[in-house]
Amino acid sequence: MRNILVTGGTRGLGLGIARRLAASGFRVVAIARTRTERFASAELAVETCDKGRLHFRFGDLTDLAVLPGMVKEIRSEFGPIYGLVNNAGVGTAGVLATMKDTDLEHLVRLNVTAPLMLTKYVIRSMMSQGDGRIVNISSIVANTGYSGLSVYSATKASLTGFTRSLAREVGPLGITVNAVAPGFLDTDMTHTLTPPERAKITRRSALHRMAEIEDVANMVDYLVSEKARNITGSVMTVDAGNSA
Ligand SMILES: NC(=O)c1ccc[n+]([C@@H]2O[C@H](COP(=O)([O-])OP(=O)(O)OC[C@H]3O[C@@H](n4cnc5c(N)ncnc54)[C@H](OP(=O)(O)O)[C@@H]3O)[C@@H](O)[C@H]2O)c1
Repeated sequence: MRNILVTGGTRGLGLGIARRLAASGFRVVAIARTRTERFASAELAVETCDKGRLHFRFGDLTDLAVLPGMVKEIRSEFGPIYGLVNNAGVGTAGVLATMKDTDLEHLVRLNVTAPLMLTKYVIRSMMSQGDGRIVNISSIVANTGYSGLSVYSATKASLTGFTRSLAREVGPLGITVNAVAPGFLDTDMTHTLTPPERAKITRRSALHRMAEIEDVANMVDYLVSEKARNITGSVMTVDAGNSA
């Protein structure tokens, strides 16, 4: 069974991705700080289906010093790592001029530094294996812009730059690196959106609805599959046509 790490795989989009990949037969290791109730029931459901597997590993990804040891432990417990989905992130909103420096620094640390460093430690063994899949979760705001999300947008745009260059760097070794840019999704991150804000997003989308977690999870599932073997350095938008 192939192993895939999904950061932030315990709720929201990450849990949706973890469930989807487990249903496709992967052993998924979800890394987060809390083992949620939702994750525990998904773990049970996956076990009864007898396809893939779902495991939880505690990890605070902002504690950068623990990342190499965490990857080493996961590899020795489960074997070679085939895939990494860099999904964990925060969406702290705020006007730049008044944003707390600590919030700014935390956004950059969790959304950028952590995935870059985690990828560094995971990709080393993929390079010796001669295959592997990296999927970075960006956002449409990396390109569209959204008032109050300038720092968040900067972190998400950095992931697409990272994706393209790394794809070139490790392509000759058989590893693909892609990003997925979701539009607004109904998760804990967006629970503060007001009904008028939601209505505006829906109205602006070509399909007059919001994309759902399952839509994004299906895209990730495709990118780690054999069907996507010749797709690398791409940013796949899943937003019901919001940025069309
Ligand atoms: N929701 C949207 O509309 C939307 C749109 C575009 C892109 N995205 C992107 O999609 C990804 C997932 O977003 P979401 O909406 O699913 O967010 P969410 O519901 O808030 O979930 C975030 C996940 O990240 C984990 N996490 C947070 N801080 C962490 C830390 N320090 N160390 C380890 N794990 C941590 C959380 O677990 P713990 O708190 O237990 O650690 C949780 O599992 C993010 O990268 C986000 O930028 C979201």
